[in-house]
Amino acid sequence: MSKIDTIRQAFPILNETVHGKPLAFLDTGASAQKPLCVINAEKEVYEKYYANIHRGVYFFSQESTERYENVRKVVCELIGSHDPREIIFTKGTTESINLVAHSLGNLLLDRGDRVMITEMEHHANIVPWQMICQAKGSQLIVVPVLDDGSLDMDFLHANLDSTVKIVAVTQISNALGTVNDIAAITQKAHEVGAKILVDGAQGVVHEPLNVKDLDIDFYVFSAHKLYGPTGVGVLYGKKELLNAMPPYQTGGDMIDEVTFDKTTFAPLPNKFEAGTPNIAGVIAFETAIRFVQEVGFDYIVEHEKELLDYATAELSKLPEVRLIGTAKNKVGVISFVVKGVHPHDIGTMLDHFGVAIRVGHHCAQPIMKRFGVPATARVSFGMYNTKAEVDQLIDGLKKIIEMFS
Ligand code: ALA
Repeated sequence: MSKIDTIRQAFPILNETVHGKPLAFLDTGASAQKPLCVINAEKEVYEKYYANIHRGVYFFSQESTERYENVRKVVCELIGSHDPREIIFTKGTTESINLVAHSLGNLLLDRGDRVMITEMEHHANIVPWQMICQAKGSQLIVVPVLDDGSLDMDFLHANLDSTVKIVAVTQISNALGTVNDIAAITQKAHEVGAKILVDGAQGVVHEPLNVKDLDIDFYVFSAHKLYGPTGVGVLYGKKELLNAMPPYQTGGDMIDEVTFDKTTFAPLPNKFEAGTPNIAGVIAFETAIRFVQEVGFDYIVEHEKELLDYATAELSKLPEVRLIGTAKNKVGVISFVVKGVHPHDIGTMLDHFGVAIRVGHHCAQPIMKRFGVPATARVSFGMYNTKAEVDQLIDGLKKIIEMFS
């Protein structure tokens, strides 16, 4: 059996039909489908040893705690950290960014300071910074995007000075697929004494960054885009920074001692994990990481590049199609508009051909505005997609264009 067939067999949902058509799932950028081993891993927690963690002296609580804590080590391996205390579990990328914006922002920002983001950020990497800048009297500075969808690095170099205290940038744009030069941005940020947060929500699936090699201060991502459960996110942060930062949420499991006069906080990582977390989700995330590692990032990157090149070439043959985002360095995502057809109509009609794509502003309204469109149709690939599914998309699109012409 070929590798792609073996991979597809691992995902039960890929055998489903939609409106009587085989499912062509081309929306992995929004959330990846789950292999059976991940589904079973989560089920097994509840069936075999579930209990709350860090709280019980009995066997199941200890077992759950041990397995939950072990996932920190697995995440360390994935991104190159050497210390599990640097791994904070959250409920997703969004919460991870909110945590850093709030906590680091309160620690570092003052009136007149600046936070640098880019025009291609997801709302989750814009709004939290806007809020903390407002609260602290700081300013947001936005690196523009060039016509091909790449970052204006000249602007970044010219404006990233010592008034910038924090740089927050995406590794890969969810709306355009552009891959940013994180090594160069991190180096420049550090030259002027700024801290950097990298949004790896799209990036971790294609190429997890090595946080130590690149000297990244904060790296955030979600399990659900890495073929794992929803409701689990990761915040990697350098230990010395996390130690200096105030807690974000307060409550159970994050304290050392509480009196009515004052509270002292637990050491890392618990200081940032108030309340009962997504225990089964975190444990099943380990299975997802192992699954992805077994398939291999080399294979995933090459396979998705092949699909991207093929789909880009096929879409470019349709004169009505305009691609949004054509940066030289891009992966996994193709955004486009079709002359005379609203993206929502494309999405709804493709669904009837069994093709699932995302349409809309992709939670990135500023970049839509930059390209003068309210919305795009977006195809995004996962390890399980095939050229036949791209053909299904193109056939559907041709029919839609014909109907609207
Ligand atoms: N941020 C996810 C996307 O790009 C939901 O679709």
